[in-house]
Amino acid sequence: MTTDQNNGVVSLKIRAGFGIITIDNPPVNAGSTAVRTGILEALADVSSQDVQGVVIVGAGRTFIAGSDIREFGAPLVPPKLPQVIAAIEDCPHPVCAAIHGAALGGGFELALGCDLRVATPDAVLGLPEVTLGMVPGAGGSQRLPRLVGIDTAISLVCSGRRVPASEAKTLGMIDTLADTTPEDALVSAGIAAIQAAPVKRKLRDLPVPPADPQAVKTAEAAALRRGKGRPNVSEAIRLVKLSETLPAQEALAQERGVFQNLRVSEDAFALRHLFFAERAATRIDGIDAPPNTIKRVGLVGGGTMGQGICRAVLAAGLPVTLIERDPDSRDRTALAMQQAMDGAVSKGRITAQVAQHRMDLLTVSDQIQDLADCDLVLEAVFEDMAIKKDLFRSLDAILKPGAILASNTSYLDIDDMASVTSRPGNVVGLHFFSPADVMKLLEVVRTSSSSQSSLATALWFAKFLNKQAVVSRVAEGFIGNRIYSAYRRQAEFLVEDGATPEDVDKAATEFGFAMGPFAVGDMSGLDIAWNMRKRQAATRNPDTRYVDIPDWLCEAGRFGRKTKGGYYDYINGKAQPSAITAKIIADARAAKGITPRKISPKAIQDRLIGAILNEAALVLKEGIAQRPSDIDVTLVHGYGFPRWTGGPLWWASGQTQHSIADMSDGVAVAAGTGHVSGDIEDMIAPLREARQDIDKRKLGHA
Ligand code: NAI
Repeated sequence: MTTDQNNGVVSLKIRAGFGIITIDNPPVNAGSTAVRTGILEALADVSSQDVQGVVIVGAGRTFIAGSDIREFGAPLVPPKLPQVIAAIEDCPHPVCAAIHGAALGGGFELALGCDLRVATPDAVLGLPEVTLGMVPGAGGSQRLPRLVGIDTAISLVCSGRRVPASEAKTLGMIDTLADTTPEDALVSAGIAAIQAAPVKRKLRDLPVPPADPQAVKTAEAAALRRGKGRPNVSEAIRLVKLSETLPAQEALAQERGVFQNLRVSEDAFALRHLFFAERAATRIDGIDAPPNTIKRVGLVGGGTMGQGICRAVLAAGLPVTLIERDPDSRDRTALAMQQAMDGAVSKGRITAQVAQHRMDLLTVSDQIQDLADCDLVLEAVFEDMAIKKDLFRSLDAILKPGAILASNTSYLDIDDMASVTSRPGNVVGLHFFSPADVMKLLEVVRTSSSSQSSLATALWFAKFLNKQAVVSRVAEGFIGNRIYSAYRRQAEFLVEDGATPEDVDKAATEFGFAMGPFAVGDMSGLDIAWNMRKRQAATRNPDTRYVDIPDWLCEAGRFGRKTKGGYYDYINGKAQPSAITAKIIADARAAKGITPRKISPKAIQDRLIGAILNEAALVLKEGIAQRPSDIDVTLVHGYGFPRWTGGPLWWASGQTQHSIADMSDGVAVAAGTGHVSGDIEDMIAPLREARQDIDKRKLGHA
């Protein structure tokens, strides 16, 4: 490359005695083979020129937002990133990374190879490789500790956290916070930084700051706890610590070796599957309408969910009008919102100023007419069809034309609710999970008449709130609760057949679930499902297997944690096996003439996961979920299914057909149906194919 030329994605220009290398690989300047080649050529060219320094900058809205994730699953094509970084270090001129947008993963590692880093206030920096089942592979684990120290480097590398520029400046990850945004001014800031310190400063040659052993221990323990025993997390810790003891060159070689192994590990493929699944889940095939503009959100019902959703919308920065049914409940809700904000301030989560700003965006009222100017109104009132229909009728009369009407119902038929309005096209479901300001999942429910623009608006809203959207058709329990109910039912069968609640919970957590099904039931309250079962009792199919144990627990006043007893006893908040529960279980078995038998942990896991897979197959067959990967996203984000497995379907696609058939049989026998209702093999066929492609690519055949 000669001066003022480019290879299509990387260009070199000489400006005022400085070389300016611009990366222009839309949309996010991902570090592809062409980008790496272009940078190498530009560096070779500028090295022989008489310039005072070199600035590397990204065109468009970001620096290098990361490497092209698809490349990690196949043999890497040269030139590789460490070679590019070595060329930056060997360049005779000082090189400055001028960062806006994101410098993540390989993008941040490239910046760490530069002599200086300046960043705009909106920039974020970080090393997310660990969250993708790998470790940094181009020096991140060695250069970062030299800037921030071992303990901070462990926290940053193991969490993959995106660090905002101002914090990055405090930590030492960047040299200068450039109070500028346009690309040109950023380049000038890069030039100014070089003029202020016109020397080479290879990070790899710097000493690691002396570490506080206690701080390192704490960071390590926190990372391991969060990392749930995944091998890449302990490797990342080991590598960061190597920076203290090994010469940089040797440590860098070790890091590269570990990275090369881990990038083709089971975890890494599963996490890449989820990475793409999460993005696919937010799209509806065949729909490409622009979203409506949402300037004000209305919420009806200020209970558990209404308040949580309200906090989420305020945090995202939209004004909210929240309606409760009478002055008393209005005042109670307003007070609860204020207390939640105060609590967040006292825990240091937000500043008093931010809390005040959020409260200024909130209007609490008991007059439904106050919703007239809202663009989207979401109801979170009691789970009762008559109440919801009444409300929808009233809202329909008040809301302006085009306003969207949404329901947060967990189980009810939203088509039925839409039918009482004059605007069924504007009706959607927005099913949040509790606590709504914390849980990432948001099921966007598509009724039989939801219009394209309503759905596009609902998906936009999910993204605006930083939620993970998954689109579901109307069905009892939508995607998530429906599959989870099948799993919970299977857990009850297991107990009736002979396992203890502790056995089942232990097998679930050993598989990797955050909590077992009975611990979850006790936490959310057994009375909610009990009330639903009582409502459905008259219409229940008498031929299906029904376990009385949860009803009997509730009849004994055991609703879970809140009554200090459910499946477990709670002594000083700690769960203990319960003699009362054991007696109820024994009585229930005796009443049905069941002789309890020992069930192995593996058999428990097979039946639990088999139940999930079976119900997932039905959910897909009935068209409730659009694609298999949406189910993985739902279970991982809403139900504590272990992320590193890639979700239940990705996990299943890695099992033999024989073991899947065994799992299905176990579920069928337990349900007493003699056959499974969903075809699991059909469902996972596309994922099995994806795995075969991966195997070929790993071997370099494709
Ligand atoms: P909740 O009982 O805590 O709150 C309901 C609130 O609605 C109460 O404050 C009540 O005063 C108010 N309300 C009732 N009728 C009203 C009306 N006509 N106008 C204004 N306000 C009215 O119930 P929760 O748990 O917040 O559930 C609300 C909805 O969200 C239900 O449909 C539920 O199925 C759904 N949901 C609940 C989840 C949970 O974990 N609790 C999770 C996801 C959805």
